[in-house]
Amino acid sequence: MSTAPLPLAGVIGWPVSHSLSPRLHGHWLGRYGLPGAYLPLAVSPDDLPTAIAGLRALNFVGANITVPHKQAVIPCIDSLDPAARAIGAVNTLIIDERGAIEGRNTDAQGFLAALTAGSAGWNARSGPALVLGAGGAARSIVWALKNAGVHEVRIANRSADKAAALAEEFDAAPVDWAERDAALDGCALLVNTTTLGMDGQAQLEIALDALPTDATVMDIVYAPLETPLLSAARRRGNIAVDGLSMLLHQAVPGFSAWFGKEPQVDDALRKAVLG
Ligand code: ATR
Repeated sequence: MSTAPLPLAGVIGWPVSHSLSPRLHGHWLGRYGLPGAYLPLAVSPDDLPTAIAGLRALNFVGANITVPHKQAVIPCIDSLDPAARAIGAVNTLIIDERGAIEGRNTDAQGFLAALTAGSAGWNARSGPALVLGAGGAARSIVWALKNAGVHEVRIANRSADKAAALAEEFDAAPVDWAERDAALDGCALLVNTTTLGMDGQAQLEIALDALPTDATVMDIVYAPLETPLLSAARRRGNIAVDGLSMLLHQAVPGFSAWFGKEPQVDDALRKAVLG
């Protein structure tokens, strides 16, 4: 019988019960018949440093980090990958055999993978992008787009000061929230990173008329899966990419590093995660 320890990972959040990650990683562990476990770990902000030290003590191979810990975890770990450093937020921890903890940000990679997987077919040379929102999710996405080589990234946010600050930091172009319809002109990509359109939130008001019909439209909201924005986009012929796709793709690098197998994102995974 093998004496190798069972690889353990989990998701640290507060609260964490809503997280889809245990189902996601659990599905992959089962599908590939790999030894290991992935657990929901509810950790309050006060307990975060102790919990991170505990991962080391318990010989965890890593963890995902979610709201509200993505920035607070940075002082608790040993190094950051370039994406995490640039974005200033960590969603994945990789712990080596000596207990050194690297913080990565795989949201940017997951976002780009969702846009280029299967029939999505977007590429960085397709043209300008309009990003709605300027919060944490928008930071990863604007960085991802600029880093992928998108020449012109426009940012429209209800609070203009936040759009201006994000645009300044990543060499993007701020747009007035009131001008968002017109800012779609010539775009190859529209991404909603706001909470508008999410179950229980107000609707996103946007007229897509100026958006070329060969542009891709992505909504990072995944509850509901088909937001009114995505339905409106599909009705006029645009390719629509839902937020679940980004969630599934951002999980790939963590799973590979922890459990030693590059997992597939496919319909079986989507069904398993949606329950
Ligand atoms: P996340 O980390 O998921 O990006 P966040 O940092 O709370 O979450 O950001 C939420 C985004 O949704 C922000 O861009 C926010 O706009 P403000 O910066 O003006 O707050 C946007 N948002 C939330 N409710 C909104 C509303 N009713 N109208 C327009 N934008 C809204």
